[in-house]
Parts: sequence; C-alpha cells; structure tokens
Amino acid sequence: MDGGLVVRLVVNGEAVEVDVAPTTRLVDVLRDRLGLTGAKDACGRGDCGACTVLVGDRAVLACLTLAARVAEPVRTVEGIAAEAADLRRAFADRGGLQCGYCTPGLIVRCHEMLEAAESGAGAGPGGEAAARAGLSGNFCRCTGYRGVIAALLETPTR
Ligand code: FES
Ligand code: FES
Repeated sequence: MDGGLVVRLVVNGEAVEVDVAPTTRLVDVLRDRLGLTGAKDACGRGDCGACTVLVGDRAVLACLTLAARVAEPVRTVEGIAAEAADLRRAFADRGGLQCGYCTPGLIVRCHEMLEAAESGAGAGPGGEAAARAGLSGNFCRCTGYRGVIAALLETPTR
C-alpha cells in the first residue's frame, strides 16, 4: 500500500485500482502509476495547462487534482487519440506544434471545446476571439498560437 487509500478510477475506459496517499495528484497517478505520460507535470501549480486531462466532460488540471477526489471517468490525450484524429491532423497541417511539450494539454482542451460544441452544452470554440479565450490557460512558448487557433477553428464538429 502506497499511502493508505485505495482509489478506483476509470481511465480511458479501463477500470483501475491504485494505492495512493491522500495528497497524491492525478497527474502522478497517470504518469507514474499508469504510464500515461501525455499529460505533462510542467509548472505543477496550475499555471501552464500542460497537465490538462478530461474528467467527465470537463478539462481539468491534473497537477491540481487529487486522485482520491476524482469521481468521474478520466480521459487523457492517449485516450482521445482516435476521436481527436481530425484535430491532431489539423495541428500538424497548420503548424500548431513545434517542440510539442504543450501539445497534449492543448489537444485535450481543444477537444473539450469541440465536444461542447457538438453536444450543444457550450459555446464551443466559436470565432477566433472565443478560441483564444478558451485556450488562455494553456501556455505555449513556441508557436505564437496562430497554428493552434487555426487548427481548432478548422476542425469539423460531428
Ligand atoms: S503542470 Fe498543471 S498547470 Fe502546469
Ligand atoms: S510547441 Fe513548444 S511549448 Fe508549445
């Protein structure tokens, strides 16, 4: 036993059980226990968005989320790879990535916005201003965001 708690999660459609401490963060469970290294532990304090994953239908910062408090299914960038294929292709075509460190978090956040648009639950990416506002919590040091925004706006919703 790692820290006194047994936590049951559903991650990318699979039920998993992990021993954690009460303070163990979701990003640590994903990366260190489950080998899902797409979500990055970059700033570790909620500033950069590199650790973004979906919990239920919401994008959350896995560095600020306690694993023991997660009650809904988790989807990581690995888990949405197939359904985000158009988005990923658009990132590549539009130069939405360079070093790629921020890219998993950006893909997850963009995917959340596209899903919201498809379900009618949210405004979706809308125009460029709305897309920029939606991505304001995801920092990228390389791209200047132009390719990211273009990729998001040209990805078709289903
Ligand atoms: S690593 Fe979570 S916001 Fe930066
Ligand atoms: S592509 Fe390098 S930080 Fe975004």
